Amino acid sequence: MKALVHYFNIFYKWVGTKIFLFAFLVLSTTIVESLGFTIALPILEYGSDPGESSRYTIFIYEFLESLNIKVSIVSLVALVTFIFVVKAIIRFIQVTIGLKVVFKFSQDLKFDLIERYRKMKYSYFINTEIGYFNNLITTEIATTIAAFNKYISVLVKIITVIVYLSFAFLFSWEITLTAVCSIVIIYFLFLPITNKIKRLNIILVKANASLQNSFIQFILNFKYLKATSNFLNPINNIKTAVKIQRNKGFESYLIESGTPIILELFSMILFLMGILFLVLIHDLEIASLLVTILFIYKSLLRIPEFQTAFQGFMAQSASVDVVEDARNQLEDNSEIFIGETINSFSSKITLHNIDFSFGDKQILSKINIKVPYQSSIGIVGESGSGKTTLVDIITGLLRPQSGKIEIDGMDYNSLNKESLRRLFGYITQEAIVFNDTIFNNITLWSGDDTDNECLKRVEKSCQIANCSDFINGTDHGYNTIVGDRGIKLSGGQNQRLAIAREIYRETQITIFDEATSSLDTKSENLIQGSIDNLIGRQTIIIIAHRLSTIRNCNYIYVLDKGRIVQEGSWDDLISDSNSMFAIMCRLQGVIN
Ligand SMILES: Nc1ncnc2c1ncn2[C@@H]1O[C@H](COP(=O)(O)OP(=O)(O)OP(=O)(O)O)[C@@H](O)[C@H]1O
Ligand SMILES: [Mg+2]
Repeated sequence: MKALVHYFNIFYKWVGTKIFLFAFLVLSTTIVESLGFTIALPILEYGSDPGESSRYTIFIYEFLESLNIKVSIVSLVALVTFIFVVKAIIRFIQVTIGLKVVFKFSQDLKFDLIERYRKMKYSYFINTEIGYFNNLITTEIATTIAAFNKYISVLVKIITVIVYLSFAFLFSWEITLTAVCSIVIIYFLFLPITNKIKRLNIILVKANASLQNSFIQFILNFKYLKATSNFLNPINNIKTAVKIQRNKGFESYLIESGTPIILELFSMILFLMGILFLVLIHDLEIASLLVTILFIYKSLLRIPEFQTAFQGFMAQSASVDVVEDARNQLEDNSEIFIGETINSFSSKITLHNIDFSFGDKQILSKINIKVPYQSSIGIVGESGSGKTTLVDIITGLLRPQSGKIEIDGMDYNSLNKESLRRLFGYITQEAIVFNDTIFNNITLWSGDDTDNECLKRVEKSCQIANCSDFINGTDHGYNTIVGDRGIKLSGGQNQRLAIAREIYRETQITIFDEATSSLDTKSENLIQGSIDNLIGRQTIIIIAHRLSTIRNCNYIYVLDKGRIVQEGSWDDLISDSNSMFAIMCRLQGVIN
């Protein structure tokens, strides 16, 4: 009962008042259906001595006569037919509305989750497993919808049983009471089983998420695992989850399917014993007895169905909790896109005394940086010195623990972060490519490849990013599918494609995080050319290991263990031949 109320509150929050409309329709159908059965009594008693007819039969006869209809077997059958026609109509409306509610609910839940994913903080994203997100939107939502269906059917069964028992009670309260007692006894007998199923299913939900996670990792890293024949442990992780699914799934399904069989047997024995007892003591009127037994039999039939539906629901209810929990967590970790909207950048971005840590680990300390409009800024430093973290702070993906960032004099905290991020183009350290055509990779599905204007813009972006040659060399040109994570292209081609996308977007500030790291000297020169093309026309932030890449930057910051240890123009920085920068340059052979 507690569970029913708990989930009612959740579903009510998700679906709204439509649940009541649905329940009302179920109630109406059942009442009309019950009327159809009770009408059997006057038919059974038709032709017998009016003095011996039950009160109910007399009431129906009087009702027909008040409508000026002569009581006959024909009019009684016509009345039954009428009642069943009304029932069919209500039932049809009920099914239609029910299906509408369920499908709309499924869509709303998925849309809502995707929206929550979009809004989740980047810091929450990096601390959560991919499998968790994937499992939620695929498996858990589907199970939640199935659980909702079962919940509705549990409600339907409860209503049906109550209505049938009420009718039965009107005919013979003694027999009905016996039946109700049997139901209560059975409910308590089977309570531990229901709880057991719930526990099993919490384990199954966890196994599902873990399977998806291990599997995604397996697929994402397939090339490495294959090339090194290093499959053993990754596959064991998958197998462990599958084994849990098998064992616990078997147990859960066995209990779920086995209970109704035992339950039906139990309820029939209990009930028949009760009837026997009553008939031996009381001399009950046969016609009323028949109708009462019909009702009780029908409601008793519902009890195993109810138990199955309820256990089925409890089995799947773990997913409802998982989805509800995820929604709450995503809500707690969501970015609220309020604040001032920024549409353009015209003066400078400044970072004042920025401190940033991941948990207890201090990554950046007392960072002061200025990025003037249309300048080109280079950031260099050893691997792990905090360069990527720094640009993630500049784009507003990560929020520093202390310090202040301003863009054109406006505090980042007062800005709508979505509008802020639209100003940025970001060529990330690992090139971002989608498994689709080259054209869609550049337009991110915002363009139409039959539109000449759009095609020209795409081609121009590719020229600037120096990728036209390789695209024209492919079999299908701009319609070439690049494969998952660009597996059908080379690392450098993917990198240039990512650059073309940002050029196509015409953003105001472009960040290159190691854009040339996976390129050969020739392609590096090509990219260098395209970056140099943008210098002076756009604001650019370049992170590079290869120092030659940042030679043309207006200003350079040197990071070491999260601190800025040197800054200035290229010439300033190399003027001190003992400085860290000059040493790095000499090591790379950039200067003598
Ligand atoms: N999500 C995270 N949780 C905890 N620590 C992290 C996380 N991401 C990065 N770090 C740590 O922060 C430090 C800086 O990482 P960052 O990626 O900014 O370095 P980087 O200068 O870009 O290095 P590289 O040149 O290798 O790309 C590293 O020590 C890294 O281990
Ligand atoms: Mg990095």
